[in-house]
Parts: sequence; C-alpha cells; structure tokens
Amino acid sequence: MTNGMRKWCVSYQQTIEYEVVNSPDIFNPQNETLLSVGKRENTRRFVVVDDGMEKYHSARIRDYFDHHKIRAKIITFPGGEENKSVNNYLRVLRELDSFPINRRDEPIIAVGGGVLTDVVGFAAGSYRRGVPHIKVPTTLMGYIDASVGIKTGINFNGNKNRLGAFEPPKLVILDRTFLKTLPKRHILNGLCEILKLAIIKDAGLFELLEAHGAACVESKFQDEVGEAILHRSIEGMIEELQPNLFEENLSRKVDFGHTFSYGLETAPHSQLLHGEAVLIDIAISSIVARARGILSENGLQRIFNLIAGLGFVIDNTGVNPALLWKSLEERTYHRNGLQRVPLPEGIGACSFVNNVKLEEIQSACRALESWTSVPLENHFVE
Ligand SMILES: NC(=O)c1ccc[n+]([C@@H]2O[C@H](COP(=O)([O-])OP(=O)(O)OC[C@H]3O[C@@H](n4cnc5c(N)ncnc54)[C@H](O)[C@@H]3O)[C@@H](O)[C@H]2O)c1
Repeated sequence: MTNGMRKWCVSYQQTIEYEVVNSPDIFNPQNETLLSVGKRENTRRFVVVDDGMEKYHSARIRDYFDHHKIRAKIITFPGGEENKSVNNYLRVLRELDSFPINRRDEPIIAVGGGVLTDVVGFAAGSYRRGVPHIKVPTTLMGYIDASVGIKTGINFNGNKNRLGAFEPPKLVILDRTFLKTLPKRHILNGLCEILKLAIIKDAGLFELLEAHGAACVESKFQDEVGEAILHRSIEGMIEELQPNLFEENLSRKVDFGHTFSYGLETAPHSQLLHGEAVLIDIAISSIVARARGILSENGLQRIFNLIAGLGFVIDNTGVNPALLWKSLEERTYHRNGLQRVPLPEGIGACSFVNNVKLEEIQSACRALESWTSVPLENHFVE
C-alpha cells in the first residue's frame, strides 16, 4: 500500500434460521406455540391484528394473553392493498413507540393477511434497527406465500413494495382454521399462487389440484386433502426460497405469473387482487410458451382446463399488449436488465427466456380474448 493508504476488511457471517410451524387453534390457551419465542415471565407483546379476522376472534385473542399473564397491546390494522401505505406503516410505528418492548425477547406478533405481515414485518425490521417478529398468516395468500419468506414492504410513490427489507421472522405459525372465515374471492386469490407452483415445479401438486382443487375451494382447505395440498405448496415454496433468500439469483421460478401481473395490478383504477393479476399472467405466459413450442398443446389444455375447473373466471378487461409490455420493461429493470421470464416447460418444469417480443404478447392477448369469450370445451376438439 502506498501514500499512507490503509484498508480494513469487515466480515461477519450470520445464519438465518426460523421455523414454519403448523399449529391449529393458536389462541386456545392450552396452545403455547405463540409463546415459544421470547421471554415468558413478566413480559409484554405488541400484537397487530387484521381487522378482517379480528371481528371473529377479538375476545379469544385478548383472553389468550390475559390467561398467560402477558401485558399485550393489541391494535387492529385494515387489510387491503390500499392500506399497504407509508401512513399505515408510520401508524404502526407510533403505536409501537408508545408501548416500549424489550429489543430482543418481546417479539412483535403480526396476525393477518399478506398486507399486514408485509407492513408489520417492515416496521419490525426498521424499529430500533430491528426487533424480532412472529408472523401468523390468516389468508391463503399469506399462508402459502407472503408469510413463508423474509420479504417485507410497503407501497411507495405509486409502486408496489418500493420500500422494504429482507427481514427474517423468528417464527411463522400456520393455523388453517383462520381460512374458514375468508371470503371465497380471497381463497381463489391465494389458490393462484398454488397453481403457479404446480405448473412450474410440481406435476404431482398439479394432479392433486386436478382431482381435489375444486372441493378444497368449497371446504376452504379444511379437509385432509386440503391440508395435504397446503403442506405440499409450502414445502415447494420453501424449496425455492431457501437457497435464494436474498434474491441474489434473479431468475426465480416463483416469479412465474409475476411479470405482466405487476402492470395489471398497479394500473390506475385496477380492481384486481394480486392473485387475480397473477392468474392472467399465468394464462398469457402459458400461451406464449405454447407458441414457442416449449409447452405442448396438451399441457396448455390441462392448464386452461384446471383454471376453469377450479372455478376461476379470467377477467381480461384492461388486459392490453401495451400495458403488459410496459410491465415487462419494468420487471426487466427490476431483474437487473434481463427479462428472465419464467415459462412453463410442460407441467411441473420451467425455463427462463430473455427475448419475449411485443408481437408475442399481442398475439397472446388475442388468444386470451378468444379463450375467455368462448366456452372452454370448444377450444379443444379431440
Ligand atoms: N412478502 C412476500 O413474499 C409476499 C408474497 C406474496 C404476496 N405478498 C403481498 O401480500 C399482499 C396480499 O395479501 P392478501 O391477499 O392476504 O391480502 P390482504 O392482506 O389485503 O387480505 C385480504 C382481505 O382478507 C381480510 N382477512 C384477513 N384474514 C381474514 C380471515 N381469516 N377471515 C376473513 N377475512 C380476512 C383482510 O382484512 C383483507 O380484507 C400483497 O400486498 C402482496 O404484495 C407478499
């Protein structure tokens, strides 16, 4: 080293490890899963509960903490994408700041849908440079996707999840009994992410959906096969997320259905839920894959048959090539300059492409229009 230059290297390694635990009826006083992280004696908990589920469980939640002699501050949070805002994030932080918790052993508890767990996870990650948190998903979207990984975030400047952090939870607790009160539209919304996994990585899951998916929608996944489908989906999701928790690799199978959906759900006046936009993207991407010969006619037929069989009605109002192309450009920017579009390579496999053209999107939009306006059985003549 010359001219008095010096160099120091700081290196630190940390293992990230947390459990995703299936634990039915978590607010039963006999169930102690919620208290398995953090201190137990003379302790406090800051609890944020989704107002969509709170109305069914408020007394039990309060009783649970009273029973265990825990001083709990319980606040409600409104679900819905419009509430994933800077204002609501700051409101959570203000409430938290007026109920000082220990920095290390009094974890924040987030009970709710993907909006809530994303916002509260981000609040936990940024309060005092990070305090521990536990996630308890109460929607299907949260159960099989939003709560499983370490991404948190809020919408900012008209962009989805523009502010956020990778913030591992201390624990994720799955209790599918919460799904009983979830409206059917939101069951279908979460099911789109299961469908995504089935198409790009798990042919067995696809077959389970073909055989039992519609019944699971009706039972809200309360039966045995519903549980099997949920567990298989979570395993698949963890398999994909774990080796790439911080998204160093931007070619992600779980981004199937998340290329064109971004533009669809952030378009002005869009009424689409996240999963509904993902479903349209799945349909467009599958048609593109078929046109390229990556997906067989039979594969495309099975995908569209399953979409119809599960009870989805694709709403393609507002789907236009210019919007989808703009979304692809935005995602290309997000994926560090390459399209990295995941396309189904048959059922249960996936490949990535970097050269999707506007003309392909135009003809996929035309094909989708015919799909959604013509009864399904007329599409395929044996
Ligand atoms: N962090 C991630 O990795 C990740 C992954 C996927 C999705 N997400 C995010 O998740 C969000 C969508 O999540 P969501 O679909 O759960 O939406 P949401 O959180 O808005 O919940 C949907 C609706 O269900 C209500 N609700 C919640 N639990 C209920 C219950 N048990 N019974 C009745 N009603 C209930 C809510 O109040 C809300 O009205 C999006 O913002 C998306 O970006 C994040």
